Amino acid sequence: MSVVTTQKHDNILVIVSNNPPVNALGAAVRQGLVDGIDEALSNEEVEAVVIRCDGRTFFAGADITEFGKPMKGPDLGEALDRLEASSKPVVAAIHGTALGGGCEVALACHYRIAVPSAKMGLPEVKLGLIPGAAGTQRLPRVVGAKAALPMIVIGNPISAAKAHAIGLVDKIVGEDSLADDAIAFAREQIGKAPARSSEGTENEDGVKNPSIFDEFRQKNNRKIRGFEAPEAGIQAVKAAGELSYADGVKKERELFRKLMAGTQAAAMQHYFFAERAANKIDGIDPKIDLIPIKTVGILGAGTMGGGIGMNFLSAGIPVTIVELKKEALDRGVGVIRRNYENTAKRGRMTEQQVEDAMSILTPSLSYEDLADCDLVIEAVFENMDVKKEVFTKLDSIVKQGAILASNTSYLNIDEIAAVTKRPEYVLGLHFFSPANVMKLLEIVRGEKTADDVLMTAMKLSKKIGKVAAVSGVCPGFIGNRMLSPRQEQANLMIMEGANYWEIDDVLLEFGFPMGPFQMSDLAGVDIGWHRDPERIETLRDALCAVGRWGQKVSKGFYDYDQARQRTPSDEVKQIIAEFAAKAGKEQRTISKDEIRERLLYPMVNEGAKILEEGMAQRASDIDVVWINGYGWPLYTGGPMFWADTVGLEKIVVGLKKHGLPVAKLLKTKADAGGKFNG
Ligand code: 3HC
Ligand code: NAI
Repeated sequence: MSVVTTQKHDNILVIVSNNPPVNALGAAVRQGLVDGIDEALSNEEVEAVVIRCDGRTFFAGADITEFGKPMKGPDLGEALDRLEASSKPVVAAIHGTALGGGCEVALACHYRIAVPSAKMGLPEVKLGLIPGAAGTQRLPRVVGAKAALPMIVIGNPISAAKAHAIGLVDKIVGEDSLADDAIAFAREQIGKAPARSSEGTENEDGVKNPSIFDEFRQKNNRKIRGFEAPEAGIQAVKAAGELSYADGVKKERELFRKLMAGTQAAAMQHYFFAERAANKIDGIDPKIDLIPIKTVGILGAGTMGGGIGMNFLSAGIPVTIVELKKEALDRGVGVIRRNYENTAKRGRMTEQQVEDAMSILTPSLSYEDLADCDLVIEAVFENMDVKKEVFTKLDSIVKQGAILASNTSYLNIDEIAAVTKRPEYVLGLHFFSPANVMKLLEIVRGEKTADDVLMTAMKLSKKIGKVAAVSGVCPGFIGNRMLSPRQEQANLMIMEGANYWEIDDVLLEFGFPMGPFQMSDLAGVDIGWHRDPERIETLRDALCAVGRWGQKVSKGFYDYDQARQRTPSDEVKQIIAEFAAKAGKEQRTISKDEIRERLLYPMVNEGAKILEEGMAQRASDIDVVWINGYGWPLYTGGPMFWADTVGLEKIVVGLKKHGLPVAKLLKTKADAGGKFNG
């Protein structure tokens, strides 16, 4: 059966697409739409048209798998022009998510009706693109430039109610009566002149008040810095006010083509599929029976325990949190409440939602209260003896069949699992700080972890809004293991004469939110310090001894002013110079290129080793980890994709030039002219 069919309801022709899973607008669908409109126009009995989709959603966009391949059949732009030109009114009936090209289909229709749960958006910018089927020209003409800007330049979908409020949707209809309501609505439009989006006049706001564009740039500077597509989006929306519709469409095409040919779009499309691939665990049937997780226990209400708990509370899953002492418990619970209240103050949560989340939190000082939990996550001190003791105790108390997880950053999960009688139910769930905010979850697969346990954790991660990737057991897993060589090079280079702020700046220029020394200041230079100011063995000891504990005391590697602006410190420079002199390190000027290569190439090398050892299932999983857990810039596609774009041969040459080791897999791939991804 064709993916697009038509049904005639008296004088209304309903064009229905059924192209699972998300009704992507592939060649067959585009052809089907054109054929459907031709049928409506050539059949005299037909007086109005409805376009709707079967399955879980209205068109969720162009078919991304077709990108980069020769175009087959009509292009979406042409198809939509034919649709809009129809002399008979056309109504889009929207459910699920009308995204990208799907939103553009809706815009080309003369009217749009939607169910309350529907969402609409132009997320192309998240794929390094802008809408390419006249969305940037039609949308501002319908809702105005000001309302169009966030949709096109930031790309988050909006609710049906919001779409209605800004004039993008004409009517909200019943959740379960979309098909019938659409036909009735279409019937009401018969005889009226079709409302063509390309002829709308709302775009005048951008001409009358052109400062909205600069204001928007400034307001969103942090979100769009480094990305090419957002600026193209702003220019396209601006053009929608300044140029004729036909010229605006030409401008959009030009901008779209340029982005599509660039590396950022390739990188971001790589990431789109990488994130989805990371959900798949080699050798495990995705349909395997899962373990129901109705209640979660957390051990330790410190920095991590509290944040981890919030993820579950926010998803409506009851949490029991256990501490050793009342003060620690009260402090932990207090922090959770304060975090929620701050979110509410910023308008991102209602007071009721805060209370709802807090009402399903049970603070406790007794391990016994964890007995009935389906999953217990341990977040106590990072010490193997402590972890072993805790897991022995948990194993004896928590019901059989429940999963026991550790949030350890570095320790060996197999060794922890071995103290229990249920190693197949033990795994690592490595959250990142702040755990209620950071997207990444590394799921650490122990030697004995059972398939259903692993898959349960994977599915649960989606429920709590995390992006997950599976790692094998090795020190630091995927993320921290790759951080180590970068840190090592950073420390070496400041002893060889590079300024520490230059090292941070190189990473900032590359697109990281901060460099290693800023990170150290933020986390606290004194973390793990022995607290004896007389004992000075390392640079950290020296900084801590003079009270340079980091941002919390306004001085660490940098001096901080009240606005938390950093300035390099002469005192620190002096301390570093003394250490370098003591070690007899020759000082030299180190170029930015060398700094970048020595920071990033060893990470790629470590990534290759991780792959070689089978600690990551695929190179793209490593990209997912670094983009979501460590701020690796999305527009480069992650360390392994970036390495592919640099060229593996060049990386090997660079590593050798700096006297650094080259992993076997990296060398083999480089010699063969190969890539990590694809
Ligand atoms: N093209 C091709 N495949 C797509 C796709 C698309 N646009 N959108 C989703 N898929 C695939 C996914 O890869 C996944 O495949 P898999 O099962 O083999 O891994 C499957 O559909 C289901 O997707 P999700 O796992 O993401 O399902 P969810 O229910 O969580 O989310 C969604 C659904 C919100 C629609 C989400 O898939 C999404 O955001 N899709 C992308 C939307 C988008 O970016 N559209 C714009 C495309 S660019 C464009 O339209 C250009 C135009 O202007 C010319
Ligand atoms: P923390 O010191 O802030 O909190 C640990 C809490 O555990 C303390 O409140 C302590 O009272 C409690 N505790 C200790 N022993 C206990 C026991 N036997 N029973 C119950 N409670 C106990 O430490 P943090 O930072 O939260 O780290 C916890 C774990 O998470 C460690 O394994 C750490 O490596 C890991 N981790 C930490 C990250 C971070 O950025 N802080 C990031 C990712 C993982």
